[in-house]
Amino acid sequence: MCYAIPGKVTSINNAVVTLEYFGEQRKAKNEFYDLKAGDYVYAQGGFIIQKIAAAHAEDILKTWEELFFKLKEVDSELTSDPKGLYQKANALRHKHHGNSCCVHGIIEFSNYCSSDCLYCGIRKNNPGVSRYRMGIDEIARAAYQAVHRLKFKALVLQSGEDSWFTEKRLVAIVRKIKEQSPCLIILSIGERDFGIYERLYREGCRGVLLRFETSNPLLYERLKPGRILRERVALIKKLLKAGYIVMSGFLIGLPGQSEQDVLRDIELTDSLGADIFSFGPFIPHPDTPLSHVLPASTETVLNTIARARIRNPKANILVNTSFETLDRENAVRLGLMAGANSLMINVTPRKYRRRYDIYPHRAGIDSNIHSRIDSVVKLLHSIGRAPTDLGI
Ligand code: 5AD
Repeated sequence: MCYAIPGKVTSINNAVVTLEYFGEQRKAKNEFYDLKAGDYVYAQGGFIIQKIAAAHAEDILKTWEELFFKLKEVDSELTSDPKGLYQKANALRHKHHGNSCCVHGIIEFSNYCSSDCLYCGIRKNNPGVSRYRMGIDEIARAAYQAVHRLKFKALVLQSGEDSWFTEKRLVAIVRKIKEQSPCLIILSIGERDFGIYERLYREGCRGVLLRFETSNPLLYERLKPGRILRERVALIKKLLKAGYIVMSGFLIGLPGQSEQDVLRDIELTDSLGADIFSFGPFIPHPDTPLSHVLPASTETVLNTIARARIRNPKANILVNTSFETLDRENAVRLGLMAGANSLMINVTPRKYRRRYDIYPHRAGIDSNIHSRIDSVVKLLHSIGRAPTDLGI
């Protein structure tokens, strides 16, 4: 299976390259490759991440050709007569994104965390967590598997706030991955020094996942002892300014969070200029101070997705794993039909997956990765979506 369609370079204007996909033009930024018109590339998140041999690209395009138009037709039919909030949001997604759906992989490489967030199962003060830390080579090997065997083109590298992973060690990981496995690297390592992020940008990382968690400063300070919302937001802004594509957002259903707060959360995600909106329901963990709180309903999450889409028709909106955990059967389909256009699949080595216990019974931790990918692809096809990323 393949998570991106090769694009053909049609013109080049300094770093901005125009690509053609079955007659559609898209733009992507080229920073790493020597390109000319006629070359084939993969783009992810608006960046060219790999140059591919013409013969290979043409083979892949042949496998896509018929399917691409068939899927488009299904998507068009499903969005042709929108009624109600979710369908209207989905029609906007269709209008601004077509039927492409980014499918990113995520590798959770350490569950050590120096932070003590009240909502999070791997908080520093949960002695029940079986802590693990993958080694540098082990992380690079997991990325290799994800890129070469499973065909992912974008990978999130996630950990708790773990200072064992110094700048030097993070650089070593990124270098190894860049050497061996062409992909868009998205860092999700928490509130680390901006200098580390700057350095990792120079090493070729282009994405960061960093949620602000809640736009309500009092709630934020209550749930994240010792932390200040202003500082987190300032870091997100700096990362955007540095050129990173940023995935950001919030938790839905936190104790003390009002409906108004969630609307403000959507506004903040949008006004920050997050490239990918990442929000999901809070799921109580039994070994945290918030174990007693009831999670949000499926409807609340779908409403939030639809409202975010209406607020920003061009946004990329992720169906988060915590939503999949809340509603295992339906979340992905319902989320994608209410305005979302992006997904993540957990590609952490199986022996660690269960230990990254930010909330209990996470969706996807026990499934075989191949059958998980198969079922996601089947689902996407059934609603006319192409698992790909066509650039900006
Ligand atoms: N339920 C849902 N999401 C959670 N996160 C942390 N704990 C929980 C929980 N109990 C989310 C936070 C964090 C991301 C990595 O995981 O939003 O940013």
